[in-house]
Amino acid sequence: MSSYKITVIRGDGIGPEIVDEAIKVLDAVSHSKDFEINYEDALLGGVAYDVTGEPLPKETLEKISNSDAVLFGAIGGEQWDNLPRELRPETGLLKLRKEMGVYANIRPVKVYDELVKASTLKEEVIRGVDLIVVRELIGGIYFGEPKGREGNKAFNTMVYSIPEIERIAHKAFQIAMKRNKRVCSVDKANVLDVSQLWRETVEEVAKEYSEVTLSHMYIDNAAMQLIRNPKQFDVILTGNIFGDILSDEASMLSGSIGLLPSASIGEKQGLYEPIHGSAPDIAGTGIANPIATISSASMMLKYALGEKEASECIDWAIAQALKDGYRTKDMSQYDAKEICSTSEMGSIIANYVGKCKK
Ligand code: IPM
Ligand code: MN
Repeated sequence: MSSYKITVIRGDGIGPEIVDEAIKVLDAVSHSKDFEINYEDALLGGVAYDVTGEPLPKETLEKISNSDAVLFGAIGGEQWDNLPRELRPETGLLKLRKEMGVYANIRPVKVYDELVKASTLKEEVIRGVDLIVVRELIGGIYFGEPKGREGNKAFNTMVYSIPEIERIAHKAFQIAMKRNKRVCSVDKANVLDVSQLWRETVEEVAKEYSEVTLSHMYIDNAAMQLIRNPKQFDVILTGNIFGDILSDEASMLSGSIGLLPSASIGEKQGLYEPIHGSAPDIAGTGIANPIATISSASMMLKYALGEKEASECIDWAIAQALKDGYRTKDMSQYDAKEICSTSEMGSIIANYVGKCKK
């Protein structure tokens, strides 16, 4: 029987609640598919600061290096907002991504048929949307030097090197090869030097993937096109901050930001996390949608553990729960037969997993 070791980072706000549901579903699927997962808890974010004085304690990195992958909930909250930047929960997450070397953040956006009417956009615009945002995660303006404050000024630097652009571009083309073979690279090359280099480098990499059609779009236009006609996109390749913004925007195509998973991948262990934040305002109320985290756990099974059938079973179970009208509050606007709590949704999906025939 295969046995895997997962580092579990629950984090702040709704993090612990949604991660618990993902583990419930992972336990159900590992039981039915006959493999074993051992979980080890680790601290990150505000809770890590409260306990250890640092948002990313060393022990967390040590635990990760001894595991197959990391499942992560969310971090952040008002009580830590006034800490110096170095100690903020977000800094812990950025450092973690950097330390793990997870340069490719893969954010699939699929619109579930059952939820087409839950979106704020028209049904004909979003039905059948199936795209992936490939966001560079450990470079760009998030990490560029110099940065800081000086007198009455503050500054950050958007910087990318050719190798950094090449490796994320390769990832996007490789993903496109397994899909509809279209890459749209998003930049601001009409204004920014860094984007000009981005565009030239992506053009070079594209030569190695002659079957893939490459197009370019400026970020402002891409933000508009994503709402106007999202079905035109297959793989969107972009840098750190543009990808951050576009993926939040894209989540609304699906009806709720509580649905979208992500995988962050590098050369070593991957990090699997929902794209949404820690939503402190609803923490502990039992209304958070655990689907984005459960779906991230499914990506972890597929990408990190090679358990493809188990991953497909989770995806099927999520779709089945939605088809049968189970909704958490965030997606209850339309066609809800039963409004369920965070933990009820986890149990319902775990239950469907047991019925999966794959
Ligand atoms: C995300 C989040 C993070 C980011 C924050 C919490 C640092 O918004 O994962 O998209 O900006 O990358
Ligand atoms: Mn974000």
